[in-house]
Amino acid sequence: MKFFVDTADTAEIADLAATGLLDGVTTNPSLIHKSGREFIPVVKEICGLVDGPVSAEVVALDHETMMKEADILRAVADNVAIKVPLTIDGLKTCKKLSDDGCQVNVTLCFSANQALLAAKAGAAFISPFVGRHDDNGLDGMRLIEDIRLIYDNYLFDTEILVASIRNPIHVLESARIGADVATMPPNVIRGLFKHVLTDKGIEGFMADWAKTGQTIT
Ligand code: E4P
Repeated sequence: MKFFVDTADTAEIADLAATGLLDGVTTNPSLIHKSGREFIPVVKEICGLVDGPVSAEVVALDHETMMKEADILRAVADNVAIKVPLTIDGLKTCKKLSDDGCQVNVTLCFSANQALLAAKAGAAFISPFVGRHDDNGLDGMRLIEDIRLIYDNYLFDTEILVASIRNPIHVLESARIGADVATMPPNVIRGLFKHVLTDKGIEGFMADWAKTGQTIT
């Protein structure tokens, strides 16, 4: 499963990219607002920090303006993936951009039927929002299972990019189901490394090593 980080914080992205475990980045208008930065320069900087796709979202609601915005965003770097909302205009834009060889991430997916439409429109990624699904009393991971089943039934190559991840259980379940990508806030990625017994084990080994009086270097 690929790991994307869901942030526009370039310091966090650089730090996580240094682990070698980061396969891409997703942003959205709220994350750009949170960064306090100008949209285009921050996307350009992020594209230089990772080799993989960097999702940049259009903000127009009509197809024609979405295409204009997408053209500007595509010109920023080769690894920009255009993010469009799951609406009729969004999917029209997705189809046109995909036919033109552009990677499109269809966002704000809340049903398996919507995911089916995005795959038919040639999306490179579909972003089902599991956390917001759970917040509304629905089962976000069940949605991922349904999309996996449907995509496998018809051999769609649209990648399932699990979004709105809130905790490590969402990541574990995504991997068990066979999702292609998980996009996570930085704190969730960092949380994956942690285990209380790992910390305890290191503590014990260090204490015993100190008693040997030895050094390696
Ligand atoms: C995905 O691409 C979105 O940016 C993101 O995962 C939304 O997450 P949220 O529901 O925590 O805002």
